[in-house]
Amino acid sequence: MSTRPKTPAAGKLPLPELAQMKARGDKIVMITAYDAPAGRLADEAGVELILVGDSAAMVMLGHESTVPVTLEEMIFLTRAVTRGAKRPLVIGDMPFGSYEVSDEQAVGNAIRLIKEGGADVVKLEGAGRMVSRVRAIAESNIGVMAHIGLTPQSATKLGGFKAQGRTADAALKLYDDALALQEAGAFSVVLEAVPAEVASRISAALEIPTIGIGAGAGCDGQVLVWHDLLGLYAGRAPRFVKRYAEIAEAIGDAVAQYAGDVRGGAFPEDVHTYAMPEDELAAFEAGLVSRSRG
Ligand code: KIV
Repeated sequence: MSTRPKTPAAGKLPLPELAQMKARGDKIVMITAYDAPAGRLADEAGVELILVGDSAAMVMLGHESTVPVTLEEMIFLTRAVTRGAKRPLVIGDMPFGSYEVSDEQAVGNAIRLIKEGGADVVKLEGAGRMVSRVRAIAESNIGVMAHIGLTPQSATKLGGFKAQGRTADAALKLYDDALALQEAGAFSVVLEAVPAEVASRISAALEIPTIGIGAGAGCDGQVLVWHDLLGLYAGRAPRFVKRYAEIAEAIGDAVAQYAGDVRGGAFPEDVHTYAMPEDELAAFEAGLVSRSRG
């Protein structure tokens, strides 16, 4: 029997509730989603945050990295998720190239994700010059989530999809970056692929909640990618993933069974077809006979 809570929805979760959850020590649950059914299911399961992540580039669109996904594609996906998810805050992820150029570019494109995508808030990657982008977006009254550690949009510069902050200097830089992003107005910071001790110390130092992915249990919340959590692909997942289902296997089995049924004549059965009143059928047959005569 399912132990899944059913129904949340109703009113939108107020953004300040996240900081209150941190203060109470209640863990925040975040998951990615890329379409309306996933948004609805995540809502019914009671998550607080849904990220329409640029991971869509890889898990939905078949790219090798997150870099190629466009703002238009992210708006399209975000629009779909917000049709399904009512209560969780939906975070529109700003794709590579949509905020690096200037604060004006960042604010303009954050507004597009909110107005056209229906996102409640946005997320962007990085610190340094990106702190100014976070400040500009926050000062435009748009909630902005930061993302440091392994930032997939800069994976090439980082030397691949590798854990970050594993030396004292690198860990201190992450710590300083997190404080700077909080000061700039971020409502939360994602810490990706960071040693658990470092993530814990950053979480304790910040008033805003941290959301970890591969950053240990000391974060104020956790995020996993929909496809990772559900086992929606075969093969190895990153170390930090816990698989809660093996849906790819179930889908593969179901499609193979369907193909076998079609080829063997076991599908469709009478219950899958529509009947016609007998007199209409007789008239149809008579019509065919008269057509074939001339
Ligand atoms: O795009 C994404 O899915 C993300 C999460 C991994 C945090 O940024």
